Amino acid sequence: MQDKHLNNTEGSAYKKRSLFGRRQGRALKGERSVALDTVLPEIQVPDDILSEAHDLVPASLFKNYYSAYHLEIGFGHGERLIEDTQKNKDIAFLGAEPFINGMADFLKNIPESSCKNTRVIMDDGMILARSITPQSIDKIYVLNPDPWHKTRHHKRRIINQENLTILSHILKPNGKLVLTTDVPDLADWMCTQANNHPDFVWDAKTKTDWSTPPQDWIKTRYELKGAKGAKKMAYMIFTKI
Ligand SMILES: C[S@@+](CC[C@H](N)C(=O)[O-])C[C@H]1O[C@@H](n2cnc3c(N)ncnc32)[C@H](O)[C@@H]1O
Repeated sequence: MQDKHLNNTEGSAYKKRSLFGRRQGRALKGERSVALDTVLPEIQVPDDILSEAHDLVPASLFKNYYSAYHLEIGFGHGERLIEDTQKNKDIAFLGAEPFINGMADFLKNIPESSCKNTRVIMDDGMILARSITPQSIDKIYVLNPDPWHKTRHHKRRIINQENLTILSHILKPNGKLVLTTDVPDLADWMCTQANNHPDFVWDAKTKTDWSTPPQDWIKTRYELKGAKGAKKMAYMIFTKI
């Protein structure tokens, strides 16, 4: 049975939504369910201000002034995002995660102090991206997106020309797009997509630049799991020109 919290996002049915993975795992109980009831309303971007119109000013979502705005699409269970919000209190973070169990873990673990500089949606990250005003985001993370291995599923991959145009639109000039994966075919795909896009240039000059984590890198849950299997990560950073 679908969790009641997912119904909250069905109000956005009129919005274009591209979600292909599962949105729910094991039934939610206890603290995680409580977190969805209590913390989510506190830090959720209200559905009625999400639109296709690029008219949502990120600063309007926060009480305080922030020196930069970051967006993470598909933050999973949110461990990396929480650490980032704690380490960088002068930055405001926007996040999107449609998988309710991931969101519930994130909400259960987020410290009260991080609720100040964090806003999220439990839905397709591109809905949030299409709402945000042009040139207002400093950095976008898409970390270990679903690989969709089968050729006939490649069109589901989130990094494609259409979505890159939207991400470029909301990035400030010289803003960064950070893409990671440990799937070689997906690394090639994302790199080719971004390199073929007129708005992005790849920062890497040598293999070391993309095969080693950037300075101050915070690992995601997926990356930590992959590390046990000694899989090779690619860290691909592009600048919006
Ligand atoms: C392989 S997991 C990686 C999670 C996390 N980034 C990490 O590295 O641990 C991919 C995540 O992307 C999320 N996802 C898939 N499609 C999405 C979309 N359109 N918008 C936002 N998140 C999405 C999935 O629910 C899942 O949590």
